[in-house]
Amino acid sequence: MAAETRGKSLPPLAGLCSFAEAQRTGLSVADCVAWIKRHHYLLVRLHEIFTARITAEPVYELKTAFSLHAYLCAEQATQFRQRVSELREPPLGLEAVPHPAWKLLCDEVLAAPTHVELTLGLYEVIVPALIESLQAYLATTNPLADAPTVRITRCCLFELNDLANFGRQAVECLVDPPARERRILWLQLLKNCVLQAFTASFAGGPLPASSNPEAAVATVTESTVTESELLQPQFSATPFQYDPVPQRDSRFQDSFNAGVNPEAFLYDKRFSARDKTVMLFYKRLREIDVPEMMASILHQTRGKPWKYYRDMSRQLWDEARHAMLGEVGFISLGLDWSKIPINFTWSRNLNAQFEPWERHAVLFFIEQGLMPRTGKRYEWEVGLDSGVTLAGLFQDFDWADEVLHAQIGREWYVKEFGDLNAAMAYGDRCWSQVLSRWRTDRDEGLTEHRNWWPEIYRAACEHWGVSPDPQALAFHTTYEAVRADLKEI
Ligand SMILES: [Fe+2]
Ligand SMILES: [Fe+2]
Repeated sequence: MAAETRGKSLPPLAGLCSFAEAQRTGLSVADCVAWIKRHHYLLVRLHEIFTARITAEPVYELKTAFSLHAYLCAEQATQFRQRVSELREPPLGLEAVPHPAWKLLCDEVLAAPTHVELTLGLYEVIVPALIESLQAYLATTNPLADAPTVRITRCCLFELNDLANFGRQAVECLVDPPARERRILWLQLLKNCVLQAFTASFAGGPLPASSNPEAAVATVTESTVTESELLQPQFSATPFQYDPVPQRDSRFQDSFNAGVNPEAFLYDKRFSARDKTVMLFYKRLREIDVPEMMASILHQTRGKPWKYYRDMSRQLWDEARHAMLGEVGFISLGLDWSKIPINFTWSRNLNAQFEPWERHAVLFFIEQGLMPRTGKRYEWEVGLDSGVTLAGLFQDFDWADEVLHAQIGREWYVKEFGDLNAAMAYGDRCWSQVLSRWRTDRDEGLTEHRNWWPEIYRAACEHWGVSPDPQALAFHTTYEAVRADLKEI
């Protein structure tokens, strides 16, 4: 009986649920662990798929969304890992495949040939199946006895619904009816995988409270294939080959262009803080090359503790976010960023020329170099002095993120050396070995290294309603003229 006052009852059971719901006897601890492991498996595989497809995905909005979605899945998987360890489960057995059909489903989507199949598989099959399973879990488990799992499941659902919303819009935009029609049999295979996995998962055990494990595949038509045929791989018949070459969509033109050195402008005392904000926003947007590079480290580095993948995914997402801060900066100044080259040779060269460990060394060396006063703090001060409020705000958060990244680097890179100086020296050595392809790129006709600065600076001045500073307008320092080790991420 709940306490009453002023004729009203206080919510019982700390507001978790009703007394009737608290008497549900749906799942034992062992049942719960089996469900949680299933959810964990799907989140880990989603993280793997999103990460594996960032670098070679040309569409910028997908590249950035995959960066976010990989990070969210890593965070949620971390919660479920922790929860399994609280349920009398050592050894955790988290690496086991819960059912071969789940594995086939994820392998197929990982190997999807284009972003048409990829978005269909991710957002029309795997994510909805996981959402349905999470919802069924909430409707089945005891909300009081199993409150800790209920809490993390609700948080997971909240974020997965964001993924699903993005995915619905992405599919609408990228997949026309003929393209869907061409993949109808493949989609059927995926949905049959879900159906088979769900059916097997609940055979002999408690059904979800909805008593309808097929709800996740509501759109599946009557299956006419046999069980053995269901498990015939199509795209994954050939093992997935990771593509480390960064691709960009048609808005990114002249991507080999390294004709302007923004760092040289930024540190030149002759130029105003206001004018420097254009270069700051450019530097941020150019950071889209960092997820392209970091995704390759994550995909090609195996056997680390899970926290490594979680931490590095957070950093990867931050870098995608920094690129979007630059994008918003351009929009705030009324500038069209597709008119100027957003260089991609940093990620391209690192991915092609280095092992994952050496790429990490370069990443740490650069980020650690941003920690002194002349690094991120300086950029923030420029933003504050500029009168462009957004630049100050963005650099403030960018600085905070980079401090975190230096910590992540110390955790996962420096510890292997046991000594910061040795770790920095190795990073410096790797970075120095990056072959400068400035002349080669020009000689091979990949770029003319056009000086794009005057046109974008003029447009910014027009936005501000001021005349361009002649000295700033005449600025032209290339990466060839100044060592590129000022590169900042
Ligand atoms: Fe960073
Ligand atoms: Fe960054």
